[in-house]
Amino acid sequence: MRIVNFGSLNIDYVYSVDHFVQPGETLSADIMQIYPGGKGLNQSIAVARAGGDIHHAGRYGADGTFLMELLKENGVDTNCLEKMDASNGHAIIQVDQHGENSILLYGGTNEMVDEAFIDRTIESVQSDDIVLFQNEVSSIGYAMKKAKEKGCKIALNPAPMNQKVLGYPLELVDILVVNETEGEALSGEKEVDAILNALKKAYPHTKVILTLGSKGAWFAFGDERFFVKACKVDKVVDTTAAGDTFIGYYLACISKGVDDKEALETATKAAAITVSRKGAAVSVPTMDELK
Ligand code: RIB
Repeated sequence: MRIVNFGSLNIDYVYSVDHFVQPGETLSADIMQIYPGGKGLNQSIAVARAGGDIHHAGRYGADGTFLMELLKENGVDTNCLEKMDASNGHAIIQVDQHGENSILLYGGTNEMVDEAFIDRTIESVQSDDIVLFQNEVSSIGYAMKKAKEKGCKIALNPAPMNQKVLGYPLELVDILVVNETEGEALSGEKEVDAILNALKKAYPHTKVILTLGSKGAWFAFGDERFFVKACKVDKVVDTTAAGDTFIGYYLACISKGVDDKEALETATKAAAITVSRKGAAVSVPTMDELK
């Protein structure tokens, strides 16, 4: 089964800081590094490194050519990527002493994904594809409807969470991957059980995966509900792209017929490796590293 990812590509400017800059404060960063990133790109690379058949659809700027090349080098199909005469999307990321991050996004070419691009791209999508979305490109609601009309399965990671997500046709989603903040915003609930119950009631046909960072993740679908513990990490260096690794690995596994439990266990192992390394896409492990 193929996975088609309508996803962002970002240039990540990563600043190592003692603490996140506060309102009114001017803070010096010890180190600044430039990495390939974007939730979309990170997830595509994770699918590829997990051995999945992944096609990335999106738009990038001249300054983002290295992002397109990185996808290609990793075995991601880039036939549905278009180069634009505009600035690529980028992210300004602060990483503190504990490896936690704080991200400021500029959409750039990610915000130039329009209905005409989607109509063109959707023609090459097949009915048994999984079509994956995050919330870093424009026209997602339209693309979800078009993908569903084709008969595809829809996977959504509504990150970063904002008001736009509430306007998407969420009832079309087959696989919803949320963290606690996103789960809370979609359900109006705060506790894990309550979030899962509310999402199950609102979207009875959707598999819900609720990630809890260093604790683990919950899976809920119909009468099935289980928890997968996170793996222990000796030293957390940078949590950026941990969630993206998790999603990419989970989808790659299920696309190859692995059951949900095993797919989530594999995804958890992969994410634990990602947090032990610096950067976004570059920190995603290959399947061989999980052994
Ligand atoms: O999920 C991590 C990603 O979020 C970063 O690579 C950054 O580009 C932002 O999109």
